[in-house]
Amino acid sequence: MKLHQIWLTDFRSHADLSLTFSEGLTAVIGPNGSGKTNLLEAIGVLSRLRSFRGVSNDRLLRREQPRAIVRAQGERDGRDVLIELELSSGRSTVFVNKQRLPRNRDLLGALRVTVFAPDDLSLLKDGPSVRREYLDDLLIALDTRNDAVIADYARVVKQRNTLLKQAKGRLDDAAELTLDVYDTQLSALGERLTYLREHVLSALMPRVANAYTMLAGTECSVVASYRRSWEGDGMLEAVQEARAQDLARSTTSMGPHRDEVSLRIDEFDSRTEASQGEQRTLALALRFAGHELVTEHVKEPPLLLLDDVLSELDEARATALLTNLPVGQTLITSATELPASVRPDAIVRFPIINLTTLDTEPDQVVEVLTDG
Ligand SMILES: Nc1ncnc2c1ncn2[C@@H]1O[C@H](COP(=O)(O)OP(=O)(O)O)[C@@H](O)[C@H]1O
Ligand SMILES: [Mg+2]
Repeated sequence: MKLHQIWLTDFRSHADLSLTFSEGLTAVIGPNGSGKTNLLEAIGVLSRLRSFRGVSNDRLLRREQPRAIVRAQGERDGRDVLIELELSSGRSTVFVNKQRLPRNRDLLGALRVTVFAPDDLSLLKDGPSVRREYLDDLLIALDTRNDAVIADYARVVKQRNTLLKQAKGRLDDAAELTLDVYDTQLSALGERLTYLREHVLSALMPRVANAYTMLAGTECSVVASYRRSWEGDGMLEAVQEARAQDLARSTTSMGPHRDEVSLRIDEFDSRTEASQGEQRTLALALRFAGHELVTEHVKEPPLLLLDDVLSELDEARATALLTNLPVGQTLITSATELPASVRPDAIVRFPIINLTTLDTEPDQVVEVLTDG
């Protein structure tokens, strides 16, 4: 999908913002704190129904406001599409072409995005959940049906944990029967999700290694391993064996929600042994590889959101990144002017002074602007 225009109402710092995008590269330039990342975050929410900053809806509403609206107009397969997302605390409602979607997740796949952000370093520095999420996001971008596996699995883990907590260490007959049902569902969905993750990781790794070498400028080996939390041929057996322990701890210890992805650069563990520079390059390589894989699979590059990436990179890496990415429509933000090698088709400057919300006549606005 191509984005033509976006409107934000009470989304984070944006009370009322309207922006038109170019078909190619749009640059958003403005000082720190002017709302550049907030704009990209809003586009991210349209794509994935949650923030790439990992926060809940409440944080996305402009302070003191009960709801936020993200509205985007674009084009898909030659047809106009209008997506409207209304966010309030704990709730989202989605409309496509003014029709309310029966399930929000039917929106997934309408707009695919790849985000490069300074926070990406956390992909390697933080605990295993960020890496699981990275793989799960890719699985959804590759095939929206994977979302059902991921969501259903998470629901069963939650239900099972609730049952284990309520049991307080002792199962009556009814609870035992329910637990049997959960274990069967958990194992079937868990095996499927494990398979999907292992599969996407092996499709990804040659691309990650290539991207790493390209960005680092030297040949390096990058290897990933997916470490299951359970052993054996079937997950059900492992889950049943862990039942007594799970009951004692009131939590589910086996399954893909406990798996780990570890990455090594030239034999060194990327989390504990790699330098910050190597981690940064690997984080970029992971995003790069994901973008390439999705582009090839869905035959169209996702919308690229490059948040402040140039400030983090030396010129050689920045050029390598920008000239080698499969590029469709792209948004790049920066606090400083772009280097001459990057030629945007449109430039938007933040902060935007919104004339309609200023309580002044247009001729006075000129004064306001020059005074400021
Ligand atoms: N929920 C919110 N309501 C109002 N303002 C917010 C909210 N969340 C963040 N902000 C403001 O947004 C600004 C940061 O915007 P951001 O997009 O991160 O800036 P940058 O242009 O540096 O990327 C901060 O000034 C912050 O106070
Ligand atoms: Mg920012």
